[in-house]
Amino acid sequence: SSDGTTDYFDVRAYTTRAEILPGVQTEIFSYNGTFPGPTFSVRKGRTAVVRTRNDLPVPLVTHLHGGKTPEASDGYPTDLLLPTSGWTAAAHQHGSGLTMEGVTAEGTRSYTYPNAQRAATLWYHDHRMDFTGPQVWRGLAGLYLVHDDEEDALPLPKGDRDVPVMIMDRAFNSDGSLAYPSIDPTLKTTPGVTGDAHNGMTGDVILVNGVPWPKLEVQGARYRLRLVNGSNARRYRVKLDPEPDAGEPFTLIGSDGGLLARPQLMDSLYMVPGERFDVVVDFGAYAPGTKVTLKNSLGDGSTAELMQFVVGAKAADDTSIPSTLSTVERLDPAKAVRTRSFTLARAREDGHYVYKINGNPFSTDRIWADVKRGETEIWEFTSTTHHPIHLHLSPFQVYKRGGSTTVNPEDVGWKDTARMMPNEKLSLLVRFDDHTGKFVFHCHNLEHEDMAMMANFRVS
Ligand code: C2O
Ligand code: CU
Ligand code: CU
Repeated sequence: SSDGTTDYFDVRAYTTRAEILPGVQTEIFSYNGTFPGPTFSVRKGRTAVVRTRNDLPVPLVTHLHGGKTPEASDGYPTDLLLPTSGWTAAAHQHGSGLTMEGVTAEGTRSYTYPNAQRAATLWYHDHRMDFTGPQVWRGLAGLYLVHDDEEDALPLPKGDRDVPVMIMDRAFNSDGSLAYPSIDPTLKTTPGVTGDAHNGMTGDVILVNGVPWPKLEVQGARYRLRLVNGSNARRYRVKLDPEPDAGEPFTLIGSDGGLLARPQLMDSLYMVPGERFDVVVDFGAYAPGTKVTLKNSLGDGSTAELMQFVVGAKAADDTSIPSTLSTVERLDPAKAVRTRSFTLARAREDGHYVYKINGNPFSTDRIWADVKRGETEIWEFTSTTHHPIHLHLSPFQVYKRGGSTTVNPEDVGWKDTARMMPNEKLSLLVRFDDHTGKFVFHCHNLEHEDMAMMANFRVS
């Protein structure tokens, strides 16, 4: 329902069964009964109030990833929405200091999203302290699309030709249940999950919009694909196979924070968990009948393919990709008031591993960075291993990689999540010009996050 400048949505989180694998029922944690959850479509400048009821057996925390959300609705990890059936605090997993302090609601609450931001492909997901990985794995995630007049006025593909491609890998047990074994702190390989769960949970089944390796019939025309890496820990390099006879496979038009200033031609795109890329693909450049596979060159076997497009007849297409898409203000490094450095590392303590930022695992009361509203800062991140870096609240721009201001084409727009490669310093420019309050930044490998690779920043 709607009134004035506010739209109201009702969401109920509950356990249900879904047919994810053909003919198999899988128990999921759902928002409104689906896997992934429902897609929200909202307009810039209209407030969305999401009235949420938690009928799950566990606490829930919803976070709008990429949202410029006031503190009270941002989904702080201990801002638990308790189950309607009641709940007693259980021991927490990783010593990250969960207390019942900050519990604000039981059963139902509203999250308020002002949507005072550009058109962009956002997503929402659970953010419960210590349990984000397993709860997202079980289904607590979905898309949230912000639209605005600026984007609507462009001749980009719309309607049926604007297609979300939310990529999530999962592992299943033989009885059809989702496999999420607890993470072995001694770092032994976890059965049922590809690779080592300490490096993040990865599965051998690729789901796109909740469907394993789907096929989509497309017309011979331009399509906008909203690529979302909603995986807990898997990185992808996506490609098209075959590539079109003429032109680059992908025209990148937007990323986490909305439209780029200018389109970027790309033959592949690298995506870490949490990142979004909006690309235009011209299926009119393929002969009718061609099967075009969206591949993942970082995968092998079952994870090397994501989905397939079956190209139909050439169709009327009045879309185009303007050479100027939008105006993107470049943050000026000369205006940065300070540089902060963050090192992400894993340490072995008392026979198990702890994940830390600047030597400390997450705790709710430690502040890693105190910033002033309106100020620009340079934040540098380093590690010897891969970690996707995500900041709540304030979008950033990639300033340098490995000391060089020549960044990747994936880096050119407004971002909220960026890849950090081993031993390559990632420098970000951030201006904290939205809300005040305490927010988190963290590794978006959800298992690393649950193992306390998260930190608070405070804007005042
Ligand atoms: Cu996508 Cu703190 O989250
Ligand atoms: Cu976020
Ligand atoms: Cu990490």
